[in-house]
Amino acid sequence: MGLCLKLRTSHVLSAIVILGLLSLRVAECRNNHHLHNRVNGEYPAINCRKHSAVLTDFGAVGDGKTSNTKSFNAAIQNLSTYASDGGAQLIVPPGKWLTGSFNLTSHFTLFLHKDAVILGTQDESEWPPIPVLPSYGTGRDAPGGRLSSLIFGTNLTDVVITGNNGTIDGQGFTWWKKFRASEYNVTRPYMIELMYSDQIQISDLTLINSPSWFVHPIYSSNVLVKGLTILAPVDSPNTDGVNPDSCTNTRIEDCFIVSGDDCVAVKSGWDQYGIKVGIPTQHLIIRRLTCISPDSATIALGSEMSGGIQDVRAEDITAIDTQSGVRIKTAVGRGAYVKDIYVRRMTLKTMKYVFWMAGNYNQHPDPFFDPKAIPEINGINFRDVVAENVTYPGSLAGIQGDPFTGICISNVTITLTEKPEELQWNCTDISGVTSNVTPKPCALLPEKQGLNCPFPEDRLPIDDVQLKTCSA
Ligand SMILES: *[C@@H]1O[C@H](CO)[C@@H](O)[C@H](O)[C@H]1NC(C)=O
Ligand SMILES: *[C@@H]1O[C@H](CO)[C@@H](O)[C@H](O)[C@H]1NC(C)=O
Ligand SMILES: *[C@@H]1O[C@H](CO)[C@@H](O)[C@H](O)[C@H]1NC(C)=O
Ligand SMILES: *[C@@H]1O[C@H](CO)[C@@H](O)[C@H](O)[C@H]1NC(C)=O
Ligand SMILES: *[C@@H]1O[C@H](CO)[C@@H](O)[C@H](O)[C@H]1NC(C)=O
Ligand SMILES: *[C@@H]1O[C@H](CO)[C@@H](O)[C@H](O)[C@H]1NC(C)=O
Ligand SMILES: *[C@@H]1O[C@H](CO)[C@@H](O)[C@H](O)[C@H]1NC(C)=O
Ligand SMILES: *[C@@H]1O[C@H](CO)[C@@H](O)[C@H](O)[C@H]1NC(C)=O
Repeated sequence: MGLCLKLRTSHVLSAIVILGLLSLRVAECRNNHHLHNRVNGEYPAINCRKHSAVLTDFGAVGDGKTSNTKSFNAAIQNLSTYASDGGAQLIVPPGKWLTGSFNLTSHFTLFLHKDAVILGTQDESEWPPIPVLPSYGTGRDAPGGRLSSLIFGTNLTDVVITGNNGTIDGQGFTWWKKFRASEYNVTRPYMIELMYSDQIQISDLTLINSPSWFVHPIYSSNVLVKGLTILAPVDSPNTDGVNPDSCTNTRIEDCFIVSGDDCVAVKSGWDQYGIKVGIPTQHLIIRRLTCISPDSATIALGSEMSGGIQDVRAEDITAIDTQSGVRIKTAVGRGAYVKDIYVRRMTLKTMKYVFWMAGNYNQHPDPFFDPKAIPEINGINFRDVVAENVTYPGSLAGIQGDPFTGICISNVTITLTEKPEELQWNCTDISGVTSNVTPKPCALLPEKQGLNCPFPEDRLPIDDVQLKTCSA
């Protein structure tokens, strides 16, 4: 990676004297107009950048009051010109940087210093409307349009959003309040959304109080989400943590999420719109996730799954005071499939449900969904689960005439709450097998002794992505 030195003659001279080779690097850096000391330390990333600039070079003021939307846009516009020359990084220095929505560019890194806070503005005119997602056909909150995410990108390659645990604060309170009062006719913005993009990294940040979903990669591939602390009040509306949506090859690891909705929600479009676009979420790894979400799932599959969900591998999942473990949400009208789902090593404490599948999640974009579009749910595997203080071990409801099949549950120990429900496993329209599960499952999941439910042994390409050490 390039080591840029400030153009103080003495430094340059001594550097040249000490290390002849370094002079080349200095010359390289000299071409960069907005040069700065790379003093913010080292960080891991899919790619390092040759050029580097600081947000304040573009007139930004970190007082928490001045709007910096223009500065972010000007900086990124400027740095986009280096895309074909080694790329560029934008450093957000210590301070409180108020901004509206801004767009990223390719071969680009947004790096937050550990004491940097990006604040989402409350001025709604700084969140421009953008078209609704083609695979949703309508706004998710309201039938009107939707507003651009705080950090937005489309049709990009090689984008990194990272920091030494710097903070992005969506200041969601006013959005939640207005949403609850039904004062919006548009869909609230997300915190980070990348569409139609390849090679994405979002890592080592604290994200708080998004107006709605936090991290939303959609129609994208090769996505790495790592080391995020995501925090929102547990009663805030739709503050999902990470929502891979119609994405291929995604790895979500080492995240700690407290939120008012699903910690991770795997999606692929809604009813007839999702079916028409037809882009599945597949080859997804979720590992070392810790979740607290009393009214939602640790990992939800759906409810928007109309492009299909296949090959999801979740392991080393911890949840505390959370409504459910891995939950399948679907309905007639969704079409497509959820299949080849593998989960192992879940540790759960104080849960309403351990296993929850529902075929009646009847929330539709409009009345024009296809009643013949029935989803196929098949090959759902769980093993090595320990759960304490559980209200319902299993609520597994397929669709009448469209049973959920190939359910496999092995090596599961569930301890119930003090006053357990009478019907501990409520199973309808499902089939599968179990092994070594307590309490004893329903009759539709008969015991098959000695069975270990499968978990794939092969590696996915996203597992082989290596991070380089870059300097900021
Ligand atoms: C980028 O900013 C630098 C320094 O402000 C300036 O010299 C350069 O002309 C800008 N480049 C573009 C393409 O605007
Ligand atoms: C950001 O990207 C969107 C979608 O391409 C576009 O409509 C908008 O004008 C862009 N905003 C800026 C400031 O470039
Ligand atoms: C982005 O990519 C999509 C899918 O390839 C394409 O339909 C769309 O036109 C592209 N948009 C832009 C602004 O290039
Ligand atoms: C990042 O900051 C959050 C919030 O202060 C903290 O809980 C978390 O432990 C920090 N993560 C790291 C890796 O330092
Ligand atoms: C949405 O609300 C805004 C502000 O209240 C109003 O100006 C606009 O006409 C409304 N749009 C629709 C489609 O109802
Ligand atoms: C059963 O699950 C527990 C908890 O994850 C694990 O420690 C144990 O090794 C598993 N047993 C087998 C036979 O796989
Ligand atoms: C067990 O779960 C109940 C809710 O069902 C909760 O009120 C209680 O505090 C939990 N007990 C422990 C020991 O965590
Ligand atoms: C069991 O599940 C079925 C189907 O979802 C539901 O109709 C029924 O009320 C449930 N029974 C209990 C006791 O919860």
